Amino acid sequence: MTKELNIGIVGLGTVGSGVIKSIEKNRSYFKNNYNVEFNILGISANSKNKERSFNVSNYKWFDNPLDIISENNIDTVIELIGGEDGLAYDLAINSLKNDKNFITANKALISKHGEELSILTEKHKNFFGFEASVAGGIPIIKTLKESLILNEIRKIYAILNGTSNYILSNMGKLNISFDVALKDAQDKGYAESDPTLDINGEDSAHKLSILNSIIFSEIPSFKSIHIRGIENIDLIDHHYSSEFGYNIRLIALSQITDNGVYKEVTPMLVDKDSSLGRVDEANNIIKIIGQESGDVVLEGQGAGEGPTSSSVISDLIDCATGSKLYLFSKSHSELSNSTDKISSEERAYYLRFFLKDQKGSMSNLTKLLSDSNISLDKIIQKDENNNNNKDNFKPVIMITYPVKKDEIDSLIDILSSSDIVSSVPLHMPILVKG
Ligand code: HSE
Repeated sequence: MTKELNIGIVGLGTVGSGVIKSIEKNRSYFKNNYNVEFNILGISANSKNKERSFNVSNYKWFDNPLDIISENNIDTVIELIGGEDGLAYDLAINSLKNDKNFITANKALISKHGEELSILTEKHKNFFGFEASVAGGIPIIKTLKESLILNEIRKIYAILNGTSNYILSNMGKLNISFDVALKDAQDKGYAESDPTLDINGEDSAHKLSILNSIIFSEIPSFKSIHIRGIENIDLIDHHYSSEFGYNIRLIALSQITDNGVYKEVTPMLVDKDSSLGRVDEANNIIKIIGQESGDVVLEGQGAGEGPTSSSVISDLIDCATGSKLYLFSKSHSELSNSTDKISSEERAYYLRFFLKDQKGSMSNLTKLLSDSNISLDKIIQKDENNNNNKDNFKPVIMITYPVKKDEIDSLIDILSSSDIVSSVPLHMPILVKG
């Protein structure tokens, strides 16, 4: 017998419109291959009259998106508006309480309210799909929940934000400024409505917290993740990193250590020829180090209409074919709370300063480094000015030997208040075996 899903879609931007077009285009494919029919019984967004890539008048319009939940015929609500609270939250909670299936691409919502969503999903026995919330078109949620089961995952490292990867890879490759690269990413529909979240690392942290919930059976939490964004990286940092054989990428990583799980989102220097160093444009990658599986690498487009709507459709098929898993890997009652930030293991760092061009500056700088227990592997002093800085400050770039994060952080604090350098020095860890 044909299984019919009656759908309401809230949010008709890049992804919402993509989902509708995909359903329209693939009706016979869904019927022939899965014996499934998707009926779109309601749509809603901020503005009805905005120009869209599908015919709005083909569908019943709801001015108030919450009215979609009261529509008895609708059994599945797809939320594609985003935002951790407000309407997205109300839609999720009320859909679940009213026994509707819920499908979303909203990583901020799941990261903040994962525990409550997990409780409600179990209580009401709903389907809750969120494949599109992490890494666009890459099937990472399904892989972790259904394929790598019984695997002890020791470590994942990943590029999880398409916008920041687009900015970083194109700044280096095309020699363009941060602002130009960001504008391009926004024009291509990759960025969040508030791109601050893409740039300051929070969007990656939302996604990492969701992966951590599945891998380490935790309630999603930001609190245990060290987070730094890409906003202070200058074009010159791409040039200097490249001279040392590295590309800069915003890396999200979680790793089991003797003290617990270390979690971090931060820009890092990554070998140009490594799997993460080669990822460019808005692509994402996730490298999983499993005890039994060995290394598993998933790579693909991390943002945009096609990839994200492909993941929403995958959830729709799972929903229609009757998949009923826990929201994360285990029942909500078995999830642990993870709130402690633990310290990183030692690793090498890239440091970039603008050092005062006067006698004694370099020896003062090296003394500060040695007082902070930091020894140097490589150092370059450039005889060039940077327009953003005063003329009598020259760039100095260093690669340290492995050192603890706390030691680098305290060196940066000391240097930031010293008059031998102008502006806050930039520091980025170097990823080994990326
Ligand atoms: N703004 C997000 C990104 C969209 O650039 O990765 C996909 O989650």
